[in-house]
Amino acid sequence: MNGQDFTGKVALVTGGARGIGRAIVRAFAEAGADVAIADIRQEEAEMTAREIRAATGRVLLVVPMDVTSLDSVRRGCAQVLEQFGKIDVLVNNAGWDRIVPFLQTTPELWEKVIAINYRGVIHTCYAVLPHMVTRKQGNIVNISSDAARVGSLGEAIYAGAKAAVIAFSKTLAREHARDQIRVNVVCPGPTETPLVEEMQQEEFARKILGTMVGYIPLKRLGQPEDVAPIVIFLASEAARYITGQVISVSGGLTMVG
Ligand SMILES: NC(=O)c1ccc[n+]([C@@H]2O[C@H](COP(=O)([O-])OP(=O)(O)OC[C@H]3O[C@@H](n4cnc5c(N)ncnc54)[C@H](O)[C@@H]3O)[C@@H](O)[C@H]2O)c1
Repeated sequence: MNGQDFTGKVALVTGGARGIGRAIVRAFAEAGADVAIADIRQEEAEMTAREIRAATGRVLLVVPMDVTSLDSVRRGCAQVLEQFGKIDVLVNNAGWDRIVPFLQTTPELWEKVIAINYRGVIHTCYAVLPHMVTRKQGNIVNISSDAARVGSLGEAIYAGAKAAVIAFSKTLAREHARDQIRVNVVCPGPTETPLVEEMQQEEFARKILGTMVGYIPLKRLGQPEDVAPIVIFLASEAARYITGQVISVSGGLTMVG
């Protein structure tokens, strides 16, 4: 399987109930992994788990987890370890945003955006890394955003939080290379998910997203299934010499040197 067989491996995917996370969960299960879905959306997570279990025959575990709470993250990770005995791959995919011009944002919105998109990643890494260090193996893939690389209208706080995820990831990649733990980042561009659908309820967001396709060289918005394969690759043995890297999946919208 080109070094991308995950048979016997365990992946923990935050925000795996729907959208990009769901496609990542499915791709890991198809590659042979048992997968834990950690999400605040219990019902959707159960439905996703049922469907992917039926399609792949893999073990799918649903773990209630709010990444903004270190306690909740610790409880969720303990549950995964209890069930599977190990975590080989951690994918930090849970995220959230609303498109609002910076001067119309509020401190409450800043707090929520930073808590989910940045502090959430700190929490899961803090909870899972000691286990990976003990085993002297592990893989982390963090989902950032092209907003972090080039900025994005109406997403100032989100872009900053996602840029923090990139800097954080590169630092962990340096600190834990000696433990045989690799850390990489995937930056989706505009991708058709329930989150983007919800954002478009506001006119400002509709306007921005509506014009976006015209600027994408590959002339379409992304699909969750466009993002999943690179996550699988980065977490796999095929990428054994790749760490601390950032890759965009955005139809060429951004081309960062
Ligand atoms: N869709 C895009 O255009 C796009 C672009 C760039 C980056 N991203 C990033 O991709 C990732 C997935 O986004 P999506 O578009 O699939 O969104 P989505 O809302 O469709 O799915 C996100 C999932 O994260 C979960 N989640 C939210 N807050 C959580 C929390 N506190 N604890 C645990 N789970 C939580 C949600 O319940 C949901 O299941 C996010 O990190 C997002 O920032 C998305």
